Amino acid sequence: MTDLVDSYGRTARDLRVSLTDRCNLRCAYCMPAEGLAWLPGEEVLTDDEVNRLIAIAVQRFGITKLRFTGGEPLLRPGLERIIAAATTLRTPEGHRPETALTTNGLGLDKRLPGLVEAGLDRVNVSLDSLDRERYARITRRDRLSDVLRSLEAVVAAGLHPVKVNAVVMRGVNEDDVLALAGFCLARGHQLRFIEQMPLGPRGEWDRSSMVTAEEILDRLREHYDLTPLDQSRGAAPAELWQVAADEHQPGGRIGVIASVTNPFCAACDRTRLTSDGQVRSCLFSRRETDLRTLLRGGADDDEVVNAWLGAQAAKPRAHGIDEADFVQPSRTMSAIGG
Ligand code: 5AD
Ligand code: SF4
Repeated sequence: MTDLVDSYGRTARDLRVSLTDRCNLRCAYCMPAEGLAWLPGEEVLTDDEVNRLIAIAVQRFGITKLRFTGGEPLLRPGLERIIAAATTLRTPEGHRPETALTTNGLGLDKRLPGLVEAGLDRVNVSLDSLDRERYARITRRDRLSDVLRSLEAVVAAGLHPVKVNAVVMRGVNEDDVLALAGFCLARGHQLRFIEQMPLGPRGEWDRSSMVTAEEILDRLREHYDLTPLDQSRGAAPAELWQVAADEHQPGGRIGVIASVTNPFCAACDRTRLTSDGQVRSCLFSRRETDLRTLLRGGADDDEVVNAWLGAQAAKPRAHGIDEADFVQPSRTMSAIGG
């Protein structure tokens, strides 16, 4: 086995696979209202190509966690087959990789039986507001009821705990923080607030108006009793908080992910594959390594392994969002994969 290490000594065990750059929502922090120029079909990896790269990641690098993202991964017709193939793999140590899906939830209810049968372990559903109009304003589509239906279906299918991701935007959904917390705690979902990162349309992100993790915590503390959970992450502020039970909810966990104000880059164990077959060692990499051309040129597994090792070796130390010389990546989150 070859560890997928970078020059700062971090070993990748978590692979995020973007299966499409397309999406059926247009979240303001991610995409412009008119959408983006989607990748031409021939540039997107085929199911066989994706399966081959995942097999290399698991069998050669010992990747233990696979997360399928997009755009919206449910728009990929072969999703179930790709997951089924991935769950037959074993790492050199004999472990089956864990599989998870990051989705906006549209149509998830209908796909769940097939996904569970394929061996999907967990889902993360994006939900930024429980108010129909605000949800439609953020995502530019009136689809809140679809997401709520899918969340119920995920619980019914036994895939819990469901993680719910929320991005808080100034002047848009700050008032949803408590409502989302109440909703998720009452249903046993693990809510995670994520600081908005500069990964959307240019000009959409503004550091000075960004809603910080500290501010989100302050709002939560107005109504809830929070205790930091002792995670591998020693640094304060904690990422995961235990919420004490009260008359409205049985207690639970809430995450507040300070990607900008307290980055976890030093402990990052991720590597990423875009839907067009580029390795990105970091969401904010300025460099991509083209595995698709290698695959289509007839490269053997060792050549692919070496190219991937080279890409990961150049993983930046940190994303540097909060530094003066930060440059936003040219692709948006939908094209890189959350
Ligand atoms: N900042 C933070 N999170 C983002 N996501 C998408 N764009 C951004 C951004 N600019 C999140 C979505 C979703 C996941 C795929 O990534 O909320 O949960
Ligand atoms: Fe689609 Fe996710 Fe981007 Fe929203 S954040 S537009 S759901 S890819």
